[in-house]
Amino acid sequence: MRAEDYDFIEKEISLLESDPSVQEMRRFYQHGKVSTYVHARRVMLKSYAICKFFHAKVDYHDLLYAAFLHDFYLYDWHHVGDGSHRLHGFRHPKIAAENAVARFGVSSMVAKAIRTHMWPLTLVHIPTSRIGWVICIADKLVSIQEVLSRK
Ligand SMILES: [Fe+2]
Ligand SMILES: [Fe+2]
Repeated sequence: MRAEDYDFIEKEISLLESDPSVQEMRRFYQHGKVSTYVHARRVMLKSYAICKFFHAKVDYHDLLYAAFLHDFYLYDWHHVGDGSHRLHGFRHPKIAAENAVARFGVSSMVAKAIRTHMWPLTLVHIPTSRIGWVICIADKLVSIQEVLSRK
């Protein structure tokens, strides 16, 4: 990606970056040593790169918001304690979508893209937009890279 792409991305998400609840994602861990914050940014950059590569006609502001907030669930799923962490994979997309709506008033399309990012795990919650599909795929690509590069 070019320098102007990075400039564009940082400008579009500056409101998210300056939000303390978004910064809270640094405290939670994803795969191994990767924080949810770092993971979310990687998925955002990957989603953007995929859309640019295919010249996809998407709203890039919505794309960046949905991708950055796709795991905006704000809890440590490793230490929930009551055994419900096993259901984390199924539950967190709904929680992340609700948080994104409550905190940033994202559109129903953006909320739906967040809600469906774990498909096919969440059987009936299938992506219905280009943005939803891109985030679903980008999240899997980034997650595989994170698992394989684990020390
Ligand atoms: Fe997720
Ligand atoms: Fe994710």
